[in-house]
Amino acid sequence: MARIALITGGTTGLGAATADALEAGGCKVIVTARSPDKAKAYKAPVGRACYGWDVSDFSACSDSIAAIEDEIGPIDILVNNAGVTADSMLHKMSPEQWQSVLRVDLDSMFNTTRQVISGMRERGFGRIINISSVNALKGQFGQTNYSAAKAGVIGFTKALALESARKGITVNAIAPGYADTAMVAAVPDDVMKSVLEGVPLGRLAEPSEIARCVAFLASDQSGFITGSTLHVNGGLYLA
Ligand code: CAA
Repeated sequence: MARIALITGGTTGLGAATADALEAGGCKVIVTARSPDKAKAYKAPVGRACYGWDVSDFSACSDSIAAIEDEIGPIDILVNNAGVTADSMLHKMSPEQWQSVLRVDLDSMFNTTRQVISGMRERGFGRIINISSVNALKGQFGQTNYSAAKAGVIGFTKALALESARKGITVNAIAPGYADTAMVAAVPDDVMKSVLEGVPLGRLAEPSEIARCVAFLASDQSGFITGSTLHVNGGLYLA
């Protein structure tokens, strides 16, 4: 039976590339968009289901993931990929910029994982892959909110890995560097120029280069890797 994988924020960027990679590996993939309207507008490839809700809303996660498990089946692989930025220097940052990033990028880890963890424990199998960022490790000018949330993702990953190890569930993080996505395209050109100067490989990552790391950690054969963070940043930060 194909493993069932849920990827939050899976209609664009790293999430969409991850959906392709997991399907290529034989998984049944479900992706999420940030609202029901966006899910309706998404032209999903054949065989890929798409649902829309706000991952920062616990009740919406609870209702939607219960519906998915009823309609499609129990989730074996959860990729917590949905994320946003609201860059600003701290002395100019509004409470909304702080909260929106913490809620979508960090609270969502709890909101989604809480819905699937009991089932994974009962079935004795699970793969949870959380998308952090190079900026969790190195910090980034203008990203106190994002760096804090993404560092929180790594702590969440390690603690849950310990709780889940005896139940056949692995929990890992990936800390991508700057990839060729809409999120990175929104960074001002002069800032990107200086970021790229710091990347020894001298280029952005292709989304597929991050996605293949998710697929690796999601595979049945990766069962001895847990609580780890895989750094995929072209050498920008050597953790
Ligand atoms: N390092 C050091 N100094 C910097 C700097 C940097 N990276 N960026 C700006 N500064 C300096 C400027 O030179 C300027 O100095 P002066 O006052 O002496 O002229 C001062 O800081 C203020 O700069 P700005 O006027 O540009 O400040 P701003 O408030 O308009 O904008 C910012 C600041 C919003 C942080 C803007 O620089 C920005 O958008 N940066 C992008 C941050 C970034 O890399 N985000 C990553 C998004 S992608 C992602 O997050 C994915 C992932 O996981 C990797």
